[in-house]
Amino acid sequence: MKKYKKSEADQMGLFGGAEGVKVEPLVAQIEEGQGTRDKEQVKEAEGTKKKVQGEKREKGKGEKKSHSVVTAEELATKQRDISVSEFFAKNRHLLGFDNPRKALLTAVKEAVDNALDACEEARILPDLKVAIKQLSESKFVMTVRDNGPGIVKAQIPNVFARLLYGSKFHSMKMSRGQQGIGISAAGMYGLLTTGEPVQIISRTSVHKRAIHCHVQIDTAKNRPLVVLDEECDFELDTGTSVMITMEGKYQKGRQSVDEYIAQTAMANPHAHIVYEAPDGNVYDYARQVDELPFVAKEIKPHPYGVELGLLFQMAQASPCKTIGEFLRHSFSRVSDKLAHDICDKAKVKATTKPASLTLQQAEALHTAINQTKIMAPPTDCIGPIGAQQLEQGLKRVVEAEVYFSSSRSPSVYRGNPFLVEAAIAYGVKNMNGEEKEEGEPLMRLIRIANRVPLLYQQSACATFKSVMQINWRNYGMSQSKGALPGGPVVLMVHIASVWVPFTSESKEAIAHYPEIIKEIKLAVQECGRHLGIYLRKKKRLHQELQKRGYIETYLPFIGEALKDILTLNDGQVSDVVAKLKHTLENSRKL
Ligand SMILES: Nc1ncnc2c1ncn2[C@@H]1O[C@H](COP(=O)(O)OP(=O)(O)OP(=O)(O)O)[C@@H](O)[C@H]1O
Ligand SMILES: [Mg+2]
Repeated sequence: MKKYKKSEADQMGLFGGAEGVKVEPLVAQIEEGQGTRDKEQVKEAEGTKKKVQGEKREKGKGEKKSHSVVTAEELATKQRDISVSEFFAKNRHLLGFDNPRKALLTAVKEAVDNALDACEEARILPDLKVAIKQLSESKFVMTVRDNGPGIVKAQIPNVFARLLYGSKFHSMKMSRGQQGIGISAAGMYGLLTTGEPVQIISRTSVHKRAIHCHVQIDTAKNRPLVVLDEECDFELDTGTSVMITMEGKYQKGRQSVDEYIAQTAMANPHAHIVYEAPDGNVYDYARQVDELPFVAKEIKPHPYGVELGLLFQMAQASPCKTIGEFLRHSFSRVSDKLAHDICDKAKVKATTKPASLTLQQAEALHTAINQTKIMAPPTDCIGPIGAQQLEQGLKRVVEAEVYFSSSRSPSVYRGNPFLVEAAIAYGVKNMNGEEKEEGEPLMRLIRIANRVPLLYQQSACATFKSVMQINWRNYGMSQSKGALPGGPVVLMVHIASVWVPFTSESKEAIAHYPEIIKEIKLAVQECGRHLGIYLRKKKRLHQELQKRGYIETYLPFIGEALKDILTLNDGQVSDVVAKLKHTLENSRKL
């Protein structure tokens, strides 16, 4: 068991980079050998610097000294590599930590996404507990506990305190996480804003005790530091509990943690989620289906998606003996015959060693690949939520008059398979959101990518662009130029892919690939058509009821008039009125 006191940890520099901690200047770090440049390089650069400064002094005697002139050699003394964690600590907005409210949401999102991914990979029905407690006005502690497979002791420090470390980046398979940044970035944000390490409890087997660790990132090196490491008890057979203390802000509304959890429950009907909000409310989202989602298979990249530089690099690094074998093993949908066809087209011998491939040959191969008809990639690497389940999910949180859903068959962008599904709710009760000038609410758009709700950057997202390109008037809805359609409508769009092309590392908006926009439009238009039919029918029914109302109102007056004109008695009048009513009603279909 290793346990350090906070004061010892400070002395060891464990809290390096935290607020209020002295950060050594870069040159000093280089001199101490902390940077990646070695001491000799630094000495050489320093020597050159002194020499150049001497020369300059000689040359510049009598000249007015300019402070802005820097020589290449002086610059060389400052040039060094930048660790990925230093970069993201400065640019935390790129990871979704731009303000305290968003930071709280991002941290919860990263931990919940990982928990759901881990459970699904281990084929365990997820049972999640999310708790947020407010410690002071701007300080919160978030805990996310899952019943997944747990994390082995040796990997805990890297997983939680090292950026760009994960299991999903290199696998071509549908998952919520993909970059290997998420949870370590949340831990780094917590450390920078409160100085507190990430606290983890993880148990990998019912026969073993759990591991309790406190880890934090050394931002200068992007390496983990273990502050505490001991065994402890854990209430579940296997699972992980992550606790991060951070600066945050809890505020209800569209982009709140509450909303994120509600939408996550909607997109993951197989998960049971208990959420304890900081205001004391507890939300229990029960499991809706007892079946785990489809098991996504890992696939190899499709040849159509590979760029020339990457193809060349892949060939250089390939252990295969021939180019033919390399093409067959590295890409999906390439058979032996197809590999030979590509080589023949490119005029490259199929027996060439991949490592000896020249750039010209790689270019010829690249062109040949794109000129050859290759089957679309397999689609068992992505799994839809399912039109019915999506509709069920929507019903769970949105009370409406009618629901419709649609699901598209898989398609491909840049060689990556993806599919789109959509569900729409009309006649939504209690639509509290943006309103048009006349008081009519605007459509509410729920965007989901690989079962993860996206709450920020709506207008930058391909989903928003696609919805805006649709003519909603065709479906009986009002729409002003440059705005979402008006009406008590909630539209939910899910895109599932082996690699969702997000516009930034914070995974908030989907890039505008024409293939993706086309598929989203087709899925939404299908829902729109059903809605249009329903609305037209509803309008007809309304008009019909109105006409019937007129009949009811005016028939007694007609009876009175007939009585006067034809001098009928009361009994005859009621007979005529009854006949008239029967004939008029029968002639109008409802
Ligand atoms: N609760 C958990 N249970 C099991 N494994 C986990 C858990 N949380 C994280 N991991 C492992 O740690 C790795 C790193 O997680 P991290 O969130 O940093 O990256 P990621 O999920 O791979 O990608 P992204 O940056 O897109 O979230 C994951 O790939 C996964 O293997
Ligand atoms: Mg993750």
